[in-house]
Amino acid sequence: MKHYHIVTYGCQMNVHESEKIAGILSELGYESTERMEDADIVVFNTCCIRENAENHAYGNIGMLKKLKAARKDMLIAVGGCLTQQKGKAEELHKKFSYVDIIFGTHNLVKLKEYILKKQTQKKVVIDIEEKDGEICEDIEPFRTSYPNAWINITYGCNNFCSYCIVPYVRGRERSRRSSDVINEAKALIDAGYKEITLLGQNVNSYANGSDDLSFPQLLKEIAEIKGKFRLRFMTSHPKDFSEELAEVIAENPKICNCVHLPVQSGSDAVLKAMNRKYTAEDYLKKVEILKKHVPDCALSTDIIVGFPGETDADFEKTVELVKKVNFSSAFTFVYSKRTGTAAAEMPDQVDEVTCKRRITELIDLVNLQTRVQSAKYVGKTVEILCEDYDVKKDLYLGRDEYGRMAYFKGNRDLLGEFVNVKITEANGISLYGDIEE
Ligand code: 5AD
Ligand code: SF4
Repeated sequence: MKHYHIVTYGCQMNVHESEKIAGILSELGYESTERMEDADIVVFNTCCIRENAENHAYGNIGMLKKLKAARKDMLIAVGGCLTQQKGKAEELHKKFSYVDIIFGTHNLVKLKEYILKKQTQKKVVIDIEEKDGEICEDIEPFRTSYPNAWINITYGCNNFCSYCIVPYVRGRERSRRSSDVINEAKALIDAGYKEITLLGQNVNSYANGSDDLSFPQLLKEIAEIKGKFRLRFMTSHPKDFSEELAEVIAENPKICNCVHLPVQSGSDAVLKAMNRKYTAEDYLKKVEILKKHVPDCALSTDIIVGFPGETDADFEKTVELVKKVNFSSAFTFVYSKRTGTAAAEMPDQVDEVTCKRRITELIDLVNLQTRVQSAKYVGKTVEILCEDYDVKKDLYLGRDEYGRMAYFKGNRDLLGEFVNVKITEANGISLYGDIEE
């Protein structure tokens, strides 16, 4: 039996893409192994959204040199966002000459072909397509996250936020046909999956400019599928978040009252320079519309500090907005300069010390808000989807519809079941409790 090992960097979309890579490898007769040294093929599914994600991948690929020298028959493949940057594939080949296959984000469907080709030639296989990838409905993912399942609805992005590399490495936005998405959701629910998350860089612009269903219509259709399951989606761009979507969330109990709405900054000047196409006030209005229809909606966000030109006064506006909205969670990032983006050319790049000070202040604020929200859970009973087992804690875990994680004593039979958990303790973002019979 041949074995594969996949190393994934970056976001949920990459995690799901790795499930597709696993699907292709399974079809070729490979089985998964936890140990890299036992693998006949190692695939790095890379990310380049920030410099540290890129460096992380370089470090790991570098560490494989020794193993490859000892195991000449081992195949090493590098794919994902990193390879798709201009000139990166050649650079990777020069730096890591022992890598066998380098493929771009638009070339995943051809992975099988590359592996078969590499088995008959000594030369490295490099294939980076410039034009946007086609939507391939034929890859059967090897899903690894039961009871959760991810479904891509769009690929690529048209927004060109000035800091972001995604539109350059993932190409223009293209949407899958709603019938394909709905059929995939039906099959997953029939197979026993309990949580479906629709994925896209900007799900709100799904099928824009075509006569297919709009995003709210698509959500509604999926929510009407029979069976008990939760429906989530990410990511939403505030400029495209509509009242119709808020209504659909309110009217369909299967759609979780939980929205990820990246704000990025609370300063209008910074938002403009980021090319986000909304002001802080526009954002707050969207939040108000959402809360009007879904008062208990949990809101999470992404925030960048240290964008070029961001002053202390700009940063204070971000702090004010965070205080006002009271996010249930926030992913906070220090701006990372990405070659080829508009922001990389901007003057007034903010120094490291200032960035560190701002991110620390922001993280402290977000943590405080999260702790206050978590504390309110104590004594309440919440419905949790039992998703996993934590070996270290010897506890089962899952989330409520708002995305809040809870740990509890249980058994394997509970995996994939909805359980009522009475919360007895809150610790930072995590909750602890006991199952109620
Ligand atoms: N630097 C820092 N954060 C970034 N993000 C995207 N590009 C960058 C960058 N160059 C963040 C944004 C986005 C999230 C997925 O990553 O906040 O919403
Ligand atoms: Fe990047 Fe903006 Fe597109 Fe999100 S919407 S992927 S931040 S360009």
